Amino acid sequence: MALLEVEGLRTHFFTREGEVKAVDGIDFALKQGEILGIVGESGAGKSVTGFSILGLIDTPGRIVGGRIHFEGKDLTQLSPSEYQQIRGSKIATVFQDPQTSLDPVITIGRQLVETLLTHRPEMAGRQAEEHAIGMLKRVGLPSAAERMHNYPYQLSGGMKQRVVIAMALLNDPHLLIADEPTTALDATIQAQILYLMQQLVKDFNSSLIFISHDLAVVSQICDTIAVMYAGRIVEYGSREEILSDPKHPYTQGLIACLPALDGSKKRLKPIPGTMPSLLDLPQGCYFKDRCPLADAQCDLYPPERIVAGRRVSCHKV
Ligand SMILES: Nc1ncnc2c1ncn2[C@@H]1O[C@H](COP(=O)(O)OP(=O)(O)O)[C@@H](O)[C@H]1O
Ligand SMILES: [Mg+2]
Repeated sequence: MALLEVEGLRTHFFTREGEVKAVDGIDFALKQGEILGIVGESGAGKSVTGFSILGLIDTPGRIVGGRIHFEGKDLTQLSPSEYQQIRGSKIATVFQDPQTSLDPVITIGRQLVETLLTHRPEMAGRQAEEHAIGMLKRVGLPSAAERMHNYPYQLSGGMKQRVVIAMALLNDPHLLIADEPTTALDATIQAQILYLMQQLVKDFNSSLIFISHDLAVVSQICDTIAVMYAGRIVEYGSREEILSDPKHPYTQGLIACLPALDGSKKRLKPIPGTMPSLLDLPQGCYFKDRCPLADAQCDLYPPERIVAGRRVSCHKV
């Protein structure tokens, strides 16, 4: 059975300029232990998807349709206090900027202990400290016990992200949502953090939604990949399927942009054009203006098809 099942989720922002359909009818499911990658260019609706699951959509935004089933509950029906109990414990997050998760004026030890005690008030202080140190060791932070007394600025970017990952794992989450967790890091550190996350998800048997604009990164650690475009999932399949046999012209375009596997620097052609405004979406397929295959049919109605067991939103495959 799925740990998380998102059905027809729609999250819109009601701005002065109009209704921004940031997420407009997406479906996906996640099994325990599975790593799902959500990939797509900036503004596609990836972060809004994550925030919707976390119950963190604020005015002018609102979930206007769909369900988010998690361990037998529909999260869209939770009260703010019920959500607060789940967030940081059963569902935890790692964001791009460790600054959003770490308070600059509090030692990391105190932050870890407080995170732990918020959800497990029965724990003794000493025990919480031990647990926090243990977790810092698990994420590979050298001199973990001494680091407890450090402030975030005393750590490098990669170390801070390790601390954030430790914090996310403290309360044994069943689901981890990581939004561009390695985007701010340089390539070597990025590879280390990716490897660490993959190992930890396995060790903890938790599930991970890994959000990134970079298919190269997503393809390194994900079991399943959802390709998002203009608020919708245009292709959804296993990592192997998506990488070796992409069906949607947008996915094909993303793959053509990947650096060549042979290590040569040649980059193939980027996808021409830009994503349509979410305020003013065209009729039919949202990708048609950039698509080499588009014809009159693509102007008429939005595509939704199953091709070889895979969901692909394209009339032309
Ligand atoms: N608070 C907000 N108010 C208005 N529009 C928003 C808000 N948050 C996000 N959006 C819009 O939702 C769309 C999707 O954003 P986002 O999910 O952040 O994209 P990304 O795929 O880059 O993570 C964007 O067009 C963005 O402008
Ligand atoms: Mg984002």
